[in-house]
Amino acid sequence: MIKKKIVVFTGAGISAESGLQTFRGSDGLWEGHRVEDVATPEAWQRDPESVQRFYNMRRIACRRAQPNAGHLALVELEKYADVYIITQNIDDLHERAGSKNILHLHGEIMKAQSSRDSNLVYQLQKDELSMEDKCKMGSILRPHVVWFGEAVPNMLIASEIVKDADILLVVGTSLQVYPAANLLYETSKDCKIELIDPNAHQMRINSNVILHSGTASEILPKWVEIYAE
Ligand code: OAD
Repeated sequence: MIKKKIVVFTGAGISAESGLQTFRGSDGLWEGHRVEDVATPEAWQRDPESVQRFYNMRRIACRRAQPNAGHLALVELEKYADVYIITQNIDDLHERAGSKNILHLHGEIMKAQSSRDSNLVYQLQKDELSMEDKCKMGSILRPHVVWFGEAVPNMLIASEIVKDADILLVVGTSLQVYPAANLLYETSKDCKIELIDPNAHQMRINSNVILHSGTASEILPKWVEIYAE
């Protein structure tokens, strides 16, 4: 049997049940910080130490977190379909769960990049980056994350992956951040789109999208079980 191509587009919600906070919680803050204070090039110019500290804390939280039943269900899905994961998350929980094809749109917290040349990327062997850590050209290493106002280099690859998907499964994203959210409009007309989110029925979304209200760890294992039948 020919396997279908399933693209899974994930956001912070899939990692919520692993203990990592989403971005747009009820207080509008991300771990007590305004996003502009920590996730912009301006914040880095103004106060790089605070930005490093903030991402060091995120890295420690990420290291302590474990993949949940939602991440694991997507690994199981690989038995039945060609699965491609496009994630907005900077954590490495899809990797640690064991998924094979993973594209990070907004960077990876466990990596650092040169503050002068974003193509110089290093896998981190420790949790804390300091202003003493330099790239091979001697420039400070910053977190390998896409900040607001920066280009999203993997967006073109993501568009290519999505365009011939048979199914696009959207999990745990508020779809408020562009260009990432545009992926829903880059599918072929035959692609079936399904969305899993506790707020699915409150989201303003095209009527052709099949909505599943619930958390990733509740719905994804059942979704995979039904798909496998
Ligand atoms: P948001 O915080 O905007 O949205 C998280 C979504 O997850 C919401 O729709 C929640 O209802 C849903 N959710 C919460 N708990 C869930 C659970 N247990 N299971 C499933 N869904 C759940 O996060 P993102 O959409 O990922 O960008 O945010 C997109 C981007 O904005 C991030 O990648 C980041 C941020 O600023 C950058 O850092 C560039």
